[in-house]
Amino acid sequence: MAQIIDGKKISAEIKEELKEQTAHLKEAGVEGTLAVIQVGDDPASGVYVRNKKKACEYIGIHSKAFELPESTTQGELLHLISDLNADESVNGILVQLPVPDHIDEKTIINAISPDKDVDGFHPESVGSLTIGQPGFVSCTPAGIIELLKRSQVEIDGKHCVIVGRSNIVGKPMALLMLRENATVTVTHSHTKNLKEICSQADILIVAIGKKEFITGDYVKEGAVVIDVGIHRDENNKLSGDVKYEEAERKASMITPVPGGVGPMTIAMLMHNCVEAMMR
Ligand code: GUN
Repeated sequence: MAQIIDGKKISAEIKEELKEQTAHLKEAGVEGTLAVIQVGDDPASGVYVRNKKKACEYIGIHSKAFELPESTTQGELLHLISDLNADESVNGILVQLPVPDHIDEKTIINAISPDKDVDGFHPESVGSLTIGQPGFVSCTPAGIIELLKRSQVEIDGKHCVIVGRSNIVGKPMALLMLRENATVTVTHSHTKNLKEICSQADILIVAIGKKEFITGDYVKEGAVVIDVGIHRDENNKLSGDVKYEEAERKASMITPVPGGVGPMTIAMLMHNCVEAMMR
């Protein structure tokens, strides 16, 4: 039976550490503010935004919420971002994705000052990560590195297979694992022999957005399995991209859904906010 990697517990530890750090910063007269912008009223985004505001409150930084109507124009949103870029009391800016179809996501991401890009989505942040320079790192992959390190998983020299190549998870994940000296294979929807490649992984990271796609026969005996997926069925039951009961029998360690990768994303967002305050 695999050991469970407890993301809830590890994210709580990180938030405690950050709470201490913000208390010290406050004593030194430094306070932080995260601006969170949501355009439209997508219910899932609403939940994420509320959780981000709650996490700010918990670790001791201010949050400024901008809940804009669906009809907001791209120009209006760019204007708000420009004001927040110039506002010295704001350390971090986050535009909750997805934005409505009439707004171009890339243009919005590019408009956020790289100094305040706590999501790590700006091309400058991604470029810095690519060549090993300081910059904000996308929260989900950064959270996965923390999960592995705090669970004493050795990464150096290991074969890491990543399933999925999104800008938010797969690509930055590959760069972070390379930085940790893993041998990295990135697979995606056009990959041939996916099962064969996955079954060679010491560390298998799955972010493809297909419910329970990765079955037990994709998993090498003793592998560490990280499941980034999250799917809700008609009974509100959550499951991941990995068929947990099957993978769990072969893996040495595995993240559950819920309670694995999910809670780490917000913890790492808070980490980035504190980093922004210290800059
Ligand atoms: N939508 C889904 N995940 C994220 C995230 O990490 N950041 C932002 N800004 N939007 C998201």
